[in-house]
Amino acid sequence: MSRYFITTPIYYVTAKPHLGHAYTTIIADALARWHRLLGDDVHFLVGTDEHGQKVADYAEAAGKSPQEFVDEIAPLYAQAWERLGITNSDFIRTTEQRHKIGVAELLQRCYDAGDIELDVYKGKYCVACEEYYTDDELDEGDLCRIHKRKVEYYEEENYFFRLSRFQQRLLDWYDAHPGSIKPEFRGNEALGLIRGGLRDFSVSRTSLKWGIPLPWDSKHVAYVWFDALANYITAIGYGSDEQRFNDWWPGHHLIGKDIIRHHCVYWPAMLMSAGLEPPAGWGVGGWLLVGGEKMSKTSGNVVNPLDLVDEIGVDGFRYYVLAETAYGQDGDFTYEGLIARYNSDLANNLGNLLSRVATVVGKKCDGIGPAPAPDSTLAAVATQAYANAAEAWNDMQPSKALDAAWTLIRATNAYLEANEPWKAEPSPALYTVMGDALEALRIVAVLASPAVPASSQAVWERIGLPGQVTDQRLPEAAGWGGYPGGLTVVKGDPLFPRR
Ligand code: ME8
Ligand code: MG
Repeated sequence: MSRYFITTPIYYVTAKPHLGHAYTTIIADALARWHRLLGDDVHFLVGTDEHGQKVADYAEAAGKSPQEFVDEIAPLYAQAWERLGITNSDFIRTTEQRHKIGVAELLQRCYDAGDIELDVYKGKYCVACEEYYTDDELDEGDLCRIHKRKVEYYEEENYFFRLSRFQQRLLDWYDAHPGSIKPEFRGNEALGLIRGGLRDFSVSRTSLKWGIPLPWDSKHVAYVWFDALANYITAIGYGSDEQRFNDWWPGHHLIGKDIIRHHCVYWPAMLMSAGLEPPAGWGVGGWLLVGGEKMSKTSGNVVNPLDLVDEIGVDGFRYYVLAETAYGQDGDFTYEGLIARYNSDLANNLGNLLSRVATVVGKKCDGIGPAPAPDSTLAAVATQAYANAAEAWNDMQPSKALDAAWTLIRATNAYLEANEPWKAEPSPALYTVMGDALEALRIVAVLASPAVPASSQAVWERIGLPGQVTDQRLPEAAGWGGYPGGLTVVKGDPLFPRR
């Protein structure tokens, strides 16, 4: 059995989760679910980023201590993920003891390696990004390009991580691990940053108190990004449980394009410095734009995912997020798009297929689902659908994987339209057509389950199959002929009522 460790970014606990956070988390969840179907032992980590200037500023504005403030916000993330059917196996908060121990260990290793040194920082800082910028990286008027807000100037003694020493090592590593950043064009962005030259970065602050003290100099607290990145290893036991750490590391990180530099440049260099392996891979998503702008608290165009779920259901929302945008590209979120996707792919394709099949089986087969024909024309379609879906999930392209599954839905609807079983009298030929359609639905339920888990389980149960769709194992479960026949098929209410 192979192990698959997958992570999301740990989000800043400055406000409740928005659609952008849900986007990355749902994609990670679908990948985790796909890998479980493959039989992998999956560890899926999510969490919250709770230290640093930005969180401290928000807490102050709310008239609370930072700890009080983060204790109020962090549970909103856990609750949102539960509501969205996220199957994370752990939730790390950077204010936890296990994390502090691991961060101190990582800092000490990099310090002992000689890669962290004291120096003076003079420059500009965007608190919203928690990032240092040079003049040529800023817009007119010292505005950060992401948040369009003015950066702050400060000058203080800082410890620096000597990133500049890692340029060749990083290039060599990426050279030896082609395709580790997906999609490829995002990998090229990371390589561009490395080739463009690497600047040492500050890893400590003295003017900030809300953070983890450096183990060798407690006047300084760790820079929030150094602290945050370490979550991926502290959560699996780095600094506290070496065996567990070795079992799970390296892992796969899902991130947005805004944090490529931190994850694909800083992070592997920090790991190398500490004598650890770089990550196993990265998936880099684009931004979901609302009215052409990145959704962010600062831009004031925040969409609350839970409002959308109330409206369209968990699966309708998950499906939209996964199917609408090619992962890696920016996507435009529109309410009309959400409804259109739901009606076309869920109500008209999947929902309609299930309802047709259950109706005909009810009327013409006494409600008992027949077995499929071994040589059905749909068998080849199913084989191809599985092969395409498997390749697409492997490439971190959920929209393609779902399109592959939907190929089988569309082909089965077309097969029914060609055979018109609703017009025919009961006969062995009709039973075969219905058995084929039921078998296609069985396979569809498995292939669609990473995206629409509750609906897939409903399909599974209505066609009379026992147990859980999530307990099925690929590739066997996608092989033609698994529907045994002789099962009770239930029509039930529409799975996806039209909106
Ligand atoms: O950067 N579209 O946290 P963060 C798509 N704490 N994805 C979006 C998005 C949008 N409009 N807005 C946010 C941080 N995201 C750090 C991370 S990790 C060690 C520390 C997603 O709350 C996307 O995945 O600003 C992005 O990378 C992440 O949220 C940033 O979340
Ligand atoms: Mg951000």
